[in-house]
Amino acid sequence: MKRNDLCWCGSGKKYKKCHLRFDERLDSIKFDEKIGQARPPHKLVNNAADIEGIKRAAVINTGALDLVGGMVKAGVSTLEINDAVHEYIVSHGGHPSCLNYENFPKSICISVNDVVCHGIPSAEEILREGDILNVDITTDLNGYFADASRMFSVGKISDDAARLIRVTREIMEVGIKAAQPWHYVGDIGAACGEYAHENGYSVVTDLGGHGVGKEFHLEPFVSHDCVAETGMMLVPGMVITVEPMINAGAKEVYTDQIDGWTVRTADGSLSAQWEKTVLITETGNEILAD
Ligand code: MF3
Ligand code: CO
Ligand code: CO
Repeated sequence: MKRNDLCWCGSGKKYKKCHLRFDERLDSIKFDEKIGQARPPHKLVNNAADIEGIKRAAVINTGALDLVGGMVKAGVSTLEINDAVHEYIVSHGGHPSCLNYENFPKSICISVNDVVCHGIPSAEEILREGDILNVDITTDLNGYFADASRMFSVGKISDDAARLIRVTREIMEVGIKAAQPWHYVGDIGAACGEYAHENGYSVVTDLGGHGVGKEFHLEPFVSHDCVAETGMMLVPGMVITVEPMINAGAKEVYTDQIDGWTVRTADGSLSAQWEKTVLITETGNEILAD
């Protein structure tokens, strides 16, 4: 690309005024492929209009998660929450991205107690006092995706469950702090893993975070327990999720053979997760969806 060409990012600006210096910086870096270091492809870099698009999807997604906060109580079925969120997202012009995604049958994921992720809402699943649950919602609007999840609790929960929820949120936060421009995606997992293990918890590594924005799931895979300075380099304009799945017991998980989706802890221990959509900026990062 020549200096006076329009920049590949789609900003409409000349290359020399947009991503020329960015490419020069990337070209100067020697990636060590033996430890999985990788150069981020241009398709993962979002321009200002893309970021506005993701933020608009995120406004609906955040409203949907806020709605859930007012619904969680003993006696409510997870299907009722699904249906209310579906109605909310659609009536705000968005689309619940999980619905029919790789044949997922409902609009959101609700993962109760020992369910790690991808729980399928059901009329038969009635929330009970003491339950903890993750509600994971993704909204797409005009081709842009925002993905976030939160933990909720039903009435009074055990001290152990409350601590798991609080520490898992802190694990996400230390992971987000480690998500820095011109550093590696592996730094996120190194930070999350260290904090989790210090606190006596295990980290699920069979599933992780991901690039997001113009598609639901993009590169890079975001591990929440790995070695620093490995994996893809994070650069300004990249959008990823940080979404640690943390188990009170062992890290092993299995997928329900009958529904093909529900992921549970192998030992039946409690699991928690929080997720945010995070933009890598020139100076650090910005939360786009929470
Ligand atoms: N929202 C989940 C994530 O954080 C993905 C759910 S996929 C589904 O990446 F099909 F289970 F909905
Ligand atoms: Co999600
Ligand atoms: Co996600």
